[in-house]
Amino acid sequence: MKPRPVPPLSSRGREEATPEALAAGAFPAVRLRRNRRTEWARRLVAEHTLSPADLIWPLFVVDGHGRRVAVDSMPGVDRLSVDLVVEAAEQAVALGIPALALFPYTDPKLRTEDAREALNPDNLVCRATRAIRKAGIDIGIVLDVALDPYTSHGHDGLMRGDTILNDETLVALTRQALVQVEAGCDIIAPSDMMDGRVGAIRAGLEAAGHTSAQIMSYAAKYASAFYGPFRDATGATGALKGDKRTYQMDPANSDEALREVALDLAEGADMIMVKPGLPYLDIVRRVKETFGVPTFAYQVSGEYAMLMAAAERGWLDGNKVVMESLIGFKRAGASGILTYFAPRAARLLAAGG
Ligand code: PBG
Repeated sequence: MKPRPVPPLSSRGREEATPEALAAGAFPAVRLRRNRRTEWARRLVAEHTLSPADLIWPLFVVDGHGRRVAVDSMPGVDRLSVDLVVEAAEQAVALGIPALALFPYTDPKLRTEDAREALNPDNLVCRATRAIRKAGIDIGIVLDVALDPYTSHGHDGLMRGDTILNDETLVALTRQALVQVEAGCDIIAPSDMMDGRVGAIRAGLEAAGHTSAQIMSYAAKYASAFYGPFRDATGATGALKGDKRTYQMDPANSDEALREVALDLAEGADMIMVKPGLPYLDIVRRVKETFGVPTFAYQVSGEYAMLMAAAERGWLDGNKVVMESLIGFKRAGASGILTYFAPRAARLLAAGG
């Protein structure tokens, strides 16, 4: 009997790199660890990158001067008076962050059924916007359009009985958008989820000659419990009666998100947002693949609170989970991320991390 040739290498637990194996892309010809072995090689083959230019920093504005009020459920996040918002805007520019999103903590006395403070050209977000403009700081300013910081019931729209009124709310939202653009805001971000709001706001802006105001629509905004700490920060927690499920989306739905996005684009949105972030990365991916438009994700207050709480206890490495979560958004297809971690991430990036 002819002795069988000793199979090369297999005695050492390895397979042969036959031409067939090479063609099939099989081990050991293919070893994906080769490209992971060194730091420089990992950088060279990275499919996605994060830069400060991907970040929008949300800030909370409060009345007063030189005032900084901590948000208990968001460690490290303070509500800032207008002068300190201007300082933060300067910091953001220094860090390479292209835009800020401003949200007000409205005095409960100014919250009414008709949300009239939303239309006050001297309300907190308008004052902060004007102050940043006056200081000549070259940064994008994003302002929400929604009535919830201004209503006594904490809902995003006007109410009759238990009903959130859609069409009546559109009139108020359009006026709110105009007031904000006139204060110097660049990007109007409708977050109210009324039907037809983007079209109404766009028509109002065009009619007033504000043809270059951008709209970043919270197109796929879910009725989420992850907004809890934000509602603390804006003072809406105590005010809110019931929930927002008659206008914000059901977390069970994904096809519906595409319909929302299609409508908002048709109505004149320039950019789309998905919110919350990490639990909805599938939506980011579908929106980006379907429409190929600038698609943003909001890493919301509850996501921030979760990571901070675990990091504070030493259960997670804070810096690492921040960066990992942010690159996750980019991998899913996001053009950029609204995140309370924006300055921290920008500093880490500057330090090479
Ligand atoms: C207002 C608004 C909310 C958030 C952004 N704009 C809260 C809500 O809809 O109740 C949430 C942001 C966050 O949780 O960080 N309509």
